Amino acid sequence: MCGIFAVSGEETKAGEMVLRGLKKLEYRGYDSWGVAVRTETSGSIDIAKEVGKISSVKRTFSASSESMGHTRWATHGGVTKSNAHPHKVGRVTIVHNGIFENYEAWKKKLVGTHHGASVKFKSETDTEVIAGMMSEQITRLRDNEITSKKISEIIRKVCAEIQGRFAILVMVEGVPGIFAARRGSPLIIGRGEKETFIASDIPAFLERTNVVNYLDDDELVYISGGKAEFSNLRTGERVKKRNVTVKWRVEEAEKGEFPHFMIKEIFEQKDTIARAINHEDKMLVKAAKLLHSANGAYFVACGTAHKVAMAAEYFFSEVAGRKINVVPASEMPSFEKFVNKKTVIIAVSQSGETADVLEILERGKKRGAKILALTNVESSSIARMANVHLPIHAGPEKAVASTKAATAQMALLFLLAFADSNQINFGRFVLRSTAASINDLLNPRYEDRIRRVAKRIIKHDNLFIIGRGSLYPMALESAIKIQEVSYIHAQGFAAGELKHGPIALIEKGTPCLVLGDDQETVSNATELKARGAFIIGVSPTKQSVFDEWLRVPDCNGAQAIATIIPVQILAYHLAVLRGLDPDMPRNLAKSVTVK
Ligand code: F6R
Repeated sequence: MCGIFAVSGEETKAGEMVLRGLKKLEYRGYDSWGVAVRTETSGSIDIAKEVGKISSVKRTFSASSESMGHTRWATHGGVTKSNAHPHKVGRVTIVHNGIFENYEAWKKKLVGTHHGASVKFKSETDTEVIAGMMSEQITRLRDNEITSKKISEIIRKVCAEIQGRFAILVMVEGVPGIFAARRGSPLIIGRGEKETFIASDIPAFLERTNVVNYLDDDELVYISGGKAEFSNLRTGERVKKRNVTVKWRVEEAEKGEFPHFMIKEIFEQKDTIARAINHEDKMLVKAAKLLHSANGAYFVACGTAHKVAMAAEYFFSEVAGRKINVVPASEMPSFEKFVNKKTVIIAVSQSGETADVLEILERGKKRGAKILALTNVESSSIARMANVHLPIHAGPEKAVASTKAATAQMALLFLLAFADSNQINFGRFVLRSTAASINDLLNPRYEDRIRRVAKRIIKHDNLFIIGRGSLYPMALESAIKIQEVSYIHAQGFAAGELKHGPIALIEKGTPCLVLGDDQETVSNATELKARGAFIIGVSPTKQSVFDEWLRVPDCNGAQAIATIIPVQILAYHLAVLRGLDPDMPRNLAKSVTVK
């Protein structure tokens, strides 16, 4: 969701630098953008903002050593230039991620009370109200009282009134430097030698520095040039932060020779599956012990991560004889009454920032539950809330559609199921051979073969997918992949459920993906074919009922991991053949930080 990037330093082209950084955050999904610069000559803060994509924007800004920018994914108010951030009221300019839940009451209060004159709000956003609240406080001060210390105090006061999750950046005319505060939305500080950055994700500044400080919830930072001062957002007390050197490499966050991030990340699965299981046994044993101690365990996750958790439900049942409940995070409130201090909640999340998951974890913690988390971002809010965190080590995933993170999560959960039954070494053995066969599979010829299949079905508006056992959640995940990037209506079913309704949808030529080649699934495929379906088998062996066959290696219990890969490639090519950008599907955001 919304991206934030700011710099304060010696640069005189800070505006241009912020524009470049925002382009690196495009993957988060957005519909409009804006940049504020503190002009060198007059000290005034100038704002440029537009609706639409930032990728092709080339523009210059006034000379400046301080600038902040934002890519907006609309929540309050439509996609318009006036709703785009930054927002300026009086001396205060602000960008904001998250939702100010009680903004309407404050908006009413402010109109008419702004130092005697009513604030004329120019947008429909909750963000502008925050700027109004700060500005109202500043107008009560004499000029010589407006210092960085005083502004920090005002930010603390205003943030105390905000209900909801947020990350905000504030620039004030007459006070050098940039202020940032967070509660529930990520902000990372990049420490260059002579400049300091603030961003919602590391790729924005990775080409300049890999030394970072993670801003925690209820912390405020004031940056100015190479300096960053941290304090507690509630008490104002100074906070000491540790410099962390991140291992991400610039190339990992760039497309390289690939046309899109999505296909790059699909091919990275040659390495990422093996990397995901590269955990010391003691961490896996610790996670397994947590599960042993539980009386009731719940997977909570959203979207693709939820389908991964569904696959893991099968792994745990088959390998460890353990039943784990799987609930989409947004549905978990109906089951919270069963959560107590003996419960383990297992959060699966690529970003580690998904609002629905975070909320369940916060409430679960209050009920005494323990948290086990699998995320791809070690500094994420979910990772930091966990009693035990297992990073999946997939490296930055920039395409909106999750691919390498999903298979890395599955690999790690598969291994955890083995750890749960004291067979880590055997689990590793199965996964290493799965990783090796996926490595052999992923080559340009294989991709070409799938592109040809995509061409055969590209004209169809409906597509169905069936699978059984752990391939049933993969049928659901296949549908998500195809829907989100190609906009083709795709739906997944448990193979055995076909006859109970969905088979009525099959017409002559309807493409159906059949995941697996077990006897029962093959006979379901035969039923589909008898009604005219065009069958694409995804399996280790070729069956006569298949019109097209996408081979996958035989991976024992880890079949779900291998089976989803050709479908990811198919979804990618369906999108490309339809002239769409698979990296940035419409209406979607990479990290869903609002409910
Ligand atoms: C689809 C996709 C989404 C995410 C979901 C949860 O390809 O990526 O469905 O899986 O929004 O996101 P995370 O894993 O960041 O919690």
